[in-house]
Amino acid sequence: MRALRVLLAVLLAGWALLSVCLVLWLRERYGRGGPIPASQAGTLLHPLRRWVHPVRPTLEKFRLKPGYTVLEVGPGPGYFTVEASRMVGPTGRVICLDIQREMIALLRRRLDESGVANAHPVVGDATRLPLRDGSVDAAFLVAVLGEIPDRPAALRELRRVMRPGGVLSFTETLTNPDYVFQDSLRDLCRASGFEELGRSREVTGYTMTFAAPPSP
Ligand SMILES: C[S@@+](CC[C@H](N)C(=O)[O-])C[C@H]1O[C@@H](n2cnc3c(N)ncnc32)[C@H](O)[C@@H]1O
Repeated sequence: MRALRVLLAVLLAGWALLSVCLVLWLRERYGRGGPIPASQAGTLLHPLRRWVHPVRPTLEKFRLKPGYTVLEVGPGPGYFTVEASRMVGPTGRVICLDIQREMIALLRRRLDESGVANAHPVVGDATRLPLRDGSVDAAFLVAVLGEIPDRPAALRELRRVMRPGGVLSFTETLTNPDYVFQDSLRDLCRASGFEELGRSREVTGYTMTFAAPPSP
């Protein structure tokens, strides 16, 4: 029994050390304070990702419903987009806004290959959303916020376009060189009037959800 506990502790320590090394290596190599280059998009679609970061269980935390208009900020090549579009169904739609034209081109190709018709890729900046006030039921950002230099501006825009009570979700992964810590995220969202709804820890990071305030 004692040997098992020691083995478990060693394994956990090894995992923690490995994670820290990986984060440091990624920060060193890619730490950008800006968007991941589109030339690295393949890493976001790597088959191994589904083991550490499964699509459906992650999306289920975002409380997407059939018929919803969903905003995905920073979809990259669309690791989450295809499934999110299926979840909102033919009466819903996913607006996928990315700052990089090359990412949007990759996303378009992926959507075409998957036969998805209710996703709408848009080139744009999270700090200047080309959407009407209160027009979005739910929004999500996975490993994106840390790449946006003016985060308060992005939060203000998200607040503007979301309908009252709409759910805003963030997933952050430790492998992301622009990882945003939970406390910073909570402070940012509260400062923009969002109310925390839930939080779940994952082996590779966390997901937090917030409700948009009653009026912009
Ligand atoms: C690390 S990738 C994550 C992609 C995707 N969410 C995923 O998890 O596979 C971050 C994405 O956010 C986009 N991005 C960065 N800054 C942005 C901004 N200000 N507005 C919109 N998209 C942005 C990048 O171009 C990139 O595609």
